[in-house]
Amino acid sequence: MRKILIIGIGAGNPDYLTVQAIDALNHADVFFIPDKGTEKAALRQLRTEICERFIKNTTYRTVPFKIPRRAEAGEDYRSSVDEWHAKLEASYGRLFTEELAEGECGAFLVWGDPSLYDSTLRILEAMQRKGFAFEYEVIPGISAVQALAAQHRIALNRIGEPVLITTGRKLAEGIPDGVGDVVVMLDGAQTFRQVASADLDIYWGAYLGSGDEILVSGKLSDVMDEIERIRSKAREEHGWIMDTYLLRKSGQ
Ligand SMILES: C[S@@+](CC[C@H](N)C(=O)[O-])C[C@H]1O[C@@H](n2cnc3c(N)ncnc32)[C@H](O)[C@@H]1O
Repeated sequence: MRKILIIGIGAGNPDYLTVQAIDALNHADVFFIPDKGTEKAALRQLRTEICERFIKNTTYRTVPFKIPRRAEAGEDYRSSVDEWHAKLEASYGRLFTEELAEGECGAFLVWGDPSLYDSTLRILEAMQRKGFAFEYEVIPGISAVQALAAQHRIALNRIGEPVLITTGRKLAEGIPDGVGDVVVMLDGAQTFRQVASADLDIYWGAYLGSGDEILVSGKLSDVMDEIERIRSKAREEHGWIMDTYLLRKSGQ
């Protein structure tokens, strides 16, 4: 039986790798390395660096593969995602049959933690449902959410209260009633502007964990222009940006 390891590698700092992740890296025969184009070359570089630094066995292989482009979401976000997942399933199927012999172990190095806004687990589950034979194991990693909280030295929840983790797209619909703390990921449009009110604080972080990390915090209405300015300058300089933020009702 082929085995696949889904290894969470943390969100931007090789030091975020857990001992369990390092052990898993040393078990894999083949690493499947996604190529998302030049914009994400820096992320591919980090994956390569992790392999070189932590893997003691020198017999492993790396197999790059192209991530298909996702169609613009337009009106129907779900169907554009479903279509994209189908392409990924086909691509993973090819990787497993052409690049992995029976009894070998393949690995995906998943940014942050595989449980948060990552398709790998959903795709493998769908492949198994359709009869593709392999087993898989998940190794957790430090997500951007944990990195954000650590770098700002804050707890995510207030005592006994929940935290909502969501996307910029969903935040645009407003903060749901009764929610005091919202972590926002995947926001390319500075959606915090749309929900700005006098009683919100923001804890914002970009390139968390890396040498280029930027942190800004304060009253949302006071710092949102500054964040927008810093964000667009950094994006221009690097050619890409990943940022995450917590919005918190002030004084609770
Ligand atoms: C596709 S999701 C992947 C999340 C990842 N699985 C995790 O556990 O962090 C990508 C989003 O994660 C956040 N992100 C990932 N790495 C980050 C970093 N180093 N700094 C800031 N945000 C990051 C950003 O919101 C980005 O849009």
